[in-house]
Amino acid sequence: MTSEIKETYLNKLISITDNEYELLADFVYTNIGIDLGSDKKTLVVGRLQKILKKYEFSNFTEYFSYLTKDKTGEALSDLADNISTNHTYFYRESAHFEYFLNKFLPEIESKKKKENSNDYRIWCAGCSSGEEAYMLKILMLEHFAYNYNKLKAGLLATDISSVALSKAQAGKYALDSMNRMPPNYVKKYFNRLEDCYSVKEDLKNDIIFRRFNLITPKFSFKSKFDAIFCRNVMIYFDLETRTNLVNKFYDLLNPGGYLFIGHSETILKGATKYIQIQPALYRKEEQ
Ligand SMILES: C[S@@+](CC[C@H](N)C(=O)[O-])C[C@H]1O[C@@H](n2cnc3c(N)ncnc32)[C@H](O)[C@@H]1O
Repeated sequence: MTSEIKETYLNKLISITDNEYELLADFVYTNIGIDLGSDKKTLVVGRLQKILKKYEFSNFTEYFSYLTKDKTGEALSDLADNISTNHTYFYRESAHFEYFLNKFLPEIESKKKKENSNDYRIWCAGCSSGEEAYMLKILMLEHFAYNYNKLKAGLLATDISSVALSKAQAGKYALDSMNRMPPNYVKKYFNRLEDCYSVKEDLKNDIIFRRFNLITPKFSFKSKFDAIFCRNVMIYFDLETRTNLVNKFYDLLNPGGYLFIGHSETILKGATKYIQIQPALYRKEEQ
């Protein structure tokens, strides 16, 4: 094959049949939670060309067979990466961070003192490239200061996308990503490199970044959480998937624990046991 013919071949869009699209959309809904509907066909075909070319599949049936046989979770991660958005930024929906710092942390601290416990558990579910998780850790360090090291504080940050998690673990962010961040936090928690900011080791310490699919049928965690952040993840989930997920979160929260969701996301009234505190902020009942 001459290089010219090869290039034409490589640039040719691989199309999808109605049957292939139906299978793929069904797979995405069952395994990632995203409801593609029929109107996303052109978008999906365009976005998945990269994967088809990378593995040299000549049609979507070959790709689908690879997807369904893969046991490593990498194929699913790659798929999720291409059909959903990882868009995030520091201090996103800042009202939640204000609440976390000014209300949640003082309240949980006095509660833990009464319980004679120093075990604090936070889960950042759908953390993307890490900005939200680092924000939460910054606020915990700000609140507890030198006492932070005496706590058994655990911050779990999960996402389905390996690419997003690698970025989170690397902790390197473009210079303009700090635009919304208070300058004293930037100075205290990041090293300024030539072309980016790099998270200081103290900030990175004891944040556990893990791949985790929120559509996993059963969540098995050893300990319960005091707060769960799952923001801007459920936007593409349908009502049933959202309700199932927030109910699973409910079971994983300590009594009085909080669920923070994205401001454009909703929980159907009456479908869960949460008490709504503010828009996009819910609480499990104290027992
Ligand atoms: C728009 S980002 C939100 C990031 C951050 N929470 C925020 O509010 O800025 C959505 C993230 O959800 C992740 N995601 C989508 N479906 C998921 C699933 N089924 N399980 C886990 N993570 C998922 C995506 O990979 C993406 O990184």
